[in-house]
Amino acid sequence: MKTLDDYNFKHKKALIRVDFNVPINKEGEVDDATRIEAAKPTIIKILEDGGSVILMSHMGRPKAQEAEFSLERIKDKVSEVIGVEVKFVSDCVGEVAETAAQNLQSGEVLLLENLRFHEEETNGDDEFAKQLSKLGDIYVNDAFGTAHRAHASTTIVAKYFDDKCFGYLLQKEIESLNKVLKSAEKPVTAILGGAKVSSKITVIENILEKVDHLIVGGGMAFTFVKAQGGNVGDSLVEDDKLELALEILKSAKEKGVEIHLPVDSVIADSFSETAKTDVRPTKDIPEGWMGLDAGPETIKNFSEVILKSKTILWNGPVGVFEMDAFSNGTIQIGKAIGEATKNGAFSLVGGGDSVSAVKKFNLENDMSYVSTGGGAMLEMLEGKSLPGIDAILNK
Ligand code: 3PG
Ligand code: MG
Repeated sequence: MKTLDDYNFKHKKALIRVDFNVPINKEGEVDDATRIEAAKPTIIKILEDGGSVILMSHMGRPKAQEAEFSLERIKDKVSEVIGVEVKFVSDCVGEVAETAAQNLQSGEVLLLENLRFHEEETNGDDEFAKQLSKLGDIYVNDAFGTAHRAHASTTIVAKYFDDKCFGYLLQKEIESLNKVLKSAEKPVTAILGGAKVSSKITVIENILEKVDHLIVGGGMAFTFVKAQGGNVGDSLVEDDKLELALEILKSAKEKGVEIHLPVDSVIADSFSETAKTDVRPTKDIPEGWMGLDAGPETIKNFSEVILKSKTILWNGPVGVFEMDAFSNGTIQIGKAIGEATKNGAFSLVGGGDSVSAVKKFNLENDMSYVSTGGGAMLEMLEGKSLPGIDAILNK
């Protein structure tokens, strides 16, 4: 697989697809610069080689050229993070973009306007991809978060380049995932949480082939507990998935995978921060009450499994961590993973909410790797190949 280190960028213009789809707050500032920081090593390598950098990204899902989605809003943040004054051009294709790219000198960085201001981007338009390709000599894809999209800038554009490679971030994402899915040291434990079984079915099916332990937490656990005859009160349940839950349990047994479900839950009389709370066995939750977090016994059981694991994958919180009253389970699970990691395990956290949780509770540095991808990560866990990755591999 071709990576940045296979190239010397001296006097070359690198056209880099980054994922700078970052949250912007009410004041118009970047709320979380993780994705920008994550692309920095790639940019710095190219500049240090004596090359120049053209950054292209989408932000949000604009319907037209809406100012609120202009990448000009993140220009200063990108400059600050990279430590180079970044130039900005008001379109990503056409004469203005081509002129700005041509005038770029070694050591300089140019940020293009939002790719999605042209619908050709998400349509994967060939001609648009060709226009983009005129801007650089070497194509670098470092946008893991968008690698599951077969868009013009993430996938189609690659065919117009002989010289193309993964950036350091995308390379690291792939390597980290392979450490879990392909060359994992045993025992391997996956912790799956989040609200719904239905959104994780394919992940579960794929992961059962790879793990020794599957910890099921969060809202989706109640469907499993109910399927086994438990009373889960008003907890979140997908009644049309009870059969499926039983099938998953059976399939796990056949494969020798141990499934761990919550045995007790922090319950509440309403979905609210100020609800009345109690702790009950998960299979014995009264009507009018719902489980919103893992209970103490559950935390103890889950932590024991985590601590004896050598490879750990975490996708999805085990409680409603956004509310303080129901955040303890997720915090404790995060801490257990941190401890296992300190003892030599490899831990990968990925997929939206669990990443937010890790950031919220300052556990980022305790994990081996925190992914920058949400949907992209999930699709890889489902065993799918991603078009953005395949395009670099010429598949
Ligand atoms: C993301 O944050 O999910 C990626 O940047 C991809 O964005 P999208 O889901 O709008 O394609
Ligand atoms: Mg998305």
